[in-house]
Amino acid sequence: MRLQNKTAIITGAGQGIGKATALLFAREGANVVVVDINETAALQVASELVKQGGKAVGVKTNVAVLAEAETAVNKAIQTFGAVHILINNAGITRDATLAKMTEEQFDQVVSVNLRGVF
Ligand SMILES: NC(=O)c1ccc[n+]([C@@H]2O[C@H](COP(=O)([O-])OP(=O)(O)OC[C@H]3O[C@@H](n4cnc5c(N)ncnc54)[C@H](O)[C@@H]3O)[C@@H](O)[C@H]2O)c1
Repeated sequence: MRLQNKTAIITGAGQGIGKATALLFAREGANVVVVDINETAALQVASELVKQGGKAVGVKTNVAVLAEAETAVNKAIQTFGAVHILINNAGITRDATLAKMTEEQFDQVVSVNLRGVF
């Protein structure tokens, strides 16, 4: 177990790469904070980790909203005492050629993929 007594916040951990990372980190002994904009998915993944003997909490968070990100960090500290690892995995694509991409799509991608990391 390489991550015992470490707490990891993993964003976008409700599915896909983030979920796979959460499962692996829990197996390595980490306390996992499962952050996702999809509350059902965040809670389900956290519950799955706990059922497998891990330590986890799910938090509904839109990473593009600073106040929500702060709430997730506070929840991590309240639950596990500290944060050691942050995986900025949450991201979206709105694939389109420049000529077809709308300003709204561009803003959505920047707000999640750039602002969310900030
Ligand atoms: N899958 C690939 O081939 C690939 C390739 C290169 C990069 N990536 C990047 O890796 C990351 C994960 O990819 P994936 O395929 O697992 O994606 P995915 O779409 O399967 O999962 C992304 C997760 O992020 C969550 N999410 C989206 N917006 C959010 C927000 N604002 N706040 C919090 N959570 C949010 C979604 O609800 C979802 O659970 C993404 O950033 C993606 O762009 C993926």
